[in-house]
Formats: sequence, structure tokens, C-alpha cells
Amino acid sequence: MAELLDKSKQDSSADSQEQKFGLKSLILHLHPRRVPQAALELTHTWGLGGMAALLVAIQFVTGLLLRFVYAPFPGKAFDSIIMLQNEVLFGQFVRNIHHWSAIFLLTVTFLHLLRVFFTGAFHRPRQFNWIIGCSLLFTVIASNFTGYLLPWDQLAYWAITVSTGMLEYLPVAGAQLREAVLGGPEVGAATLLIFYNLHTSILPLILLLLMLLHFWRIRKARGVIIPQKSANEANDYVAVYPNLIVKELVVALVLLAALLTLSAIFNAPLQAKANPYFSPNPAKAPWYFQGFQELLLHFHPLFAVLVIPFAAIVAMLAIPYLRYDAEPTGIWFISGRGRKMGLISAAIALVFTPLAILVDEYIISPSAALAAFPGYIIKGVIPLSFLLFFIAALYYLAKKKFAATRNEAVQTVFIFILTGFLILTATSVGFRWEGMRLAWPW
Ligand code: HEM
Repeated sequence: MAELLDKSKQDSSADSQEQKFGLKSLILHLHPRRVPQAALELTHTWGLGGMAALLVAIQFVTGLLLRFVYAPFPGKAFDSIIMLQNEVLFGQFVRNIHHWSAIFLLTVTFLHLLRVFFTGAFHRPRQFNWIIGCSLLFTVIASNFTGYLLPWDQLAYWAITVSTGMLEYLPVAGAQLREAVLGGPEVGAATLLIFYNLHTSILPLILLLLMLLHFWRIRKARGVIIPQKSANEANDYVAVYPNLIVKELVVALVLLAALLTLSAIFNAPLQAKANPYFSPNPAKAPWYFQGFQELLLHFHPLFAVLVIPFAAIVAMLAIPYLRYDAEPTGIWFISGRGRKMGLISAAIALVFTPLAILVDEYIISPSAALAAFPGYIIKGVIPLSFLLFFIAALYYLAKKKFAATRNEAVQTVFIFILTGFLILTATSVGFRWEGMRLAWPW
């Protein structure tokens, strides 16, 4: 009882502190007055959502500063970046922050998605927020992609040429779609202006609106998911200020310190001015699309550019709406069994994916006998059927051999696909050289 009184005294003193300092800031408005003690554990969320929000704010501020110097025209864009770096006070530093923060944002948003998935925070009542989150991820990717072109150097020009070139493989209206995105048959002045406007006005606006919706849904769900055991305990709530706010501040300061240090040491890359007549070899898409570029080397374009990405997006959006047989535990990886199966499935993907890449690279692709068959069969229907069979077998194994719940079996499959995709990306980023030939990086 004394403890209870003590606690409520602490809480009310925190409340009065809050009022005394009049901290009716945006930060406090985004939080409820009290949060469960369990939500304060750093290892529960790793503060990733908050980090993403801070990075978006940093992008907005640095982006606004860059706009004062940047000129979105092919004859001027590159020179304006050179001028920014050499003649504007802290110009290079601001560009570096914008560059590294964009990479951090994409990485942190993706890690946040993984945290939400692995703690089961996509289940009711948060299922719609998962969809908003997916839209946020797509918007962050689109923002990164449109920003990639703006320096108008060789890296930018050819990465966008290669990535948008993938659209041409889409059946029926692929070429027209590419032309609509580029504003013409090639990457040129119209493309730069379209990308600039998307990057500096349309996408930031969408991002902002989605974030507001996202935060509103978090409030409606009464904050983040917490381990079930703690949710049932009484008197488990503490005042948000200072308990949570101070922790968030520490995470924010650590992130800022890392970002500023990186930006002070490493400059954002800038290659030679874009030359549409000279393509680097290999010409690669931005790193976050290289998993798809690698896929294109192994699958028929129809499958690499349409069937597989489309199926992946549908599956991602469908995650909260599948049929599950257990309530979310709010614990990372659902249970000890879920964690063990996840490890096994990651290990299988770690062996299976490089093996599949090698078999295709050295046996299937060079085979003259197989080249006689239609590409969409040899490099589409057959490998995809294999993959689907493998995934179904993994799901079945998880359910039968490990007596897994549906939640755990779905998680096992998710980890398999995720690991496979990460390996495809790493292969393209680190092991593809001239002519996209496979080789060691050293
Ligand atoms: C710009 C991108 C994003 C920002 C700024 C953002 C921000 C946040 C913040 C601040 C939270 C509170 C808890 C935490 O820090 O983890 C949160 C929770 C949540 N986010 Fe995001 N998020 C983003 C992207 C995403 C993505 C890509 C997904 C998933 C597809 C997602 C799904 C969710 C869900 C379902 C919750 C509730 C989690 C729970 O109740 O435990 N968010 N987000």
C-alpha cells in the first residue's frame, strides 16, 4: 500500500512537473499521459519508430536548405552541387547529412517493420496501421529513389536508367509506363523536373500525412504492443514524462551523434557529371533495388519484374489479415519455439539461396539444351514452382514437426523469404562485377 501511495505520488509529481514547465509541446501531444512500464524497455521497440520520425524531420530541414542552391535542370544540377560543396558555408556538411540520413531512414524504417512483425504488432487492433506503415515504407523508398537522380552524376543517371529500364519488361504497357515515369523516352530534363517535384513536394506531403495517420492509429490502439503478461498486471502504468520522454531523448541524441559523426567523416558520393553516351560497367540500380536486379538475372523478366514483386507486395499487405490461431504474445519471435524455428529457417535460406544462384549461374543459364525451351518455362514457371513447393514444405514442417501455431509457421516462412531476399541484395551489391559477372570482392 505504501508502495502504491509512493508510486502515485511520484506519478502525480511528474504530472505536476509537466504542467509546471508547460511542456505542451508536440512531443508530449504525441504521447498519452501514462504508458505501461513494459513499453519503456528499450529492447522492446529499440526506439526505431521514433528514430524514423526524427530522420524524416532531419530530411525535411536539410532538404529545405539544399533547395536554396540546387537547380533542377540537366545543364545546372551537377554544377549547383559542386557550388554547394565548394562555395557554400557548411554546404558539403548539409549535403552529407541529407545523404546519410536518407540511408539511415530507409534502414531504420525497414528494421522498424521487422520489429513490428516479430513482436506481432500487426494483429488487431493494429492491422490498419500495418497497412499505413507499408505505405510509409513505399513512400520512403520512392523518396530515396527520386532523390537519387538529383545530383545528375554518372551514378545517379545510370542507376535511374537501369531501374526504370526494368519497367520495360512489364507486359502490355511496360514501355509506355516507363515513358510516363521518365516524361520521355530517355532519362532527361523532363525526368529531372518530375523527380525533383515528387521529391521536394508531393512525396514529403504524402509522408507527413501518412505519419500523422500512423501516430493517430498508435494512440487509438493505446500505444505499442506489450508482452501479454505485463499488460494484465495492475498498476503497471507510469507517467510518460519523464519516464519515456527522457529515454526517447537519449535515443535521439545517440542517433544524432552517429549521423553527425558519419557526415563529418564521409562525404556523400559524387561521380563525374552524367554522360548519357557512356555507361559504367556494371551499371547497377540503387542498393535497395539490387535484390530485384539480381532476381532479373535468374528469372524471366515477367516473373522478376511483375509476378514476384507483385506477389511479395500482396503478401506483405495481407499479413495482418491471414488466419491465425493464437493471440499475439507481444514477445519477440512469439515464443522460444518461434525463435528456434526462425533460426533454422534463416539457416536453410543461407544455404539454399547462394546454392540456387550458383546452380543457375553455372549450370542452367549457360546450358544450350535448356535454351531451346521457352524462357518463361525454364526461368519462370519451373523455378517458381520449386520455390513455392519449398515454402509450402517449410510451413508444413513447422506445423507438423515442431507443432507450431499458425503464427509461428507464418513467421518461419517470412524469415525464409526475408533472408533469401537479403542474400540476393548482398550478392548484387558485393559480388557482381563487370558485365554483372559473379566474383569475389577481394
Ligand atoms: C517513416 C516511417 C515510419 C515512422 C516515422 C514510424 C513511426 C512509428 C512510431 C514512432 C511508432 C511507435 C513505436 C515505435 O517506436 O516502434 C510506430 C509504431 C508502429 N508502426 Fe511505424 N513508423 C514508420 C513505418 C512503419 C512501417 C514500415 C510499418 C510496417 C509495415 C509500421 C507499422 C507500425 C505499427 C503496426 C506500429 C504499432 C506497433 C506497436 O503497437 O507495437 N511503421 N511507428
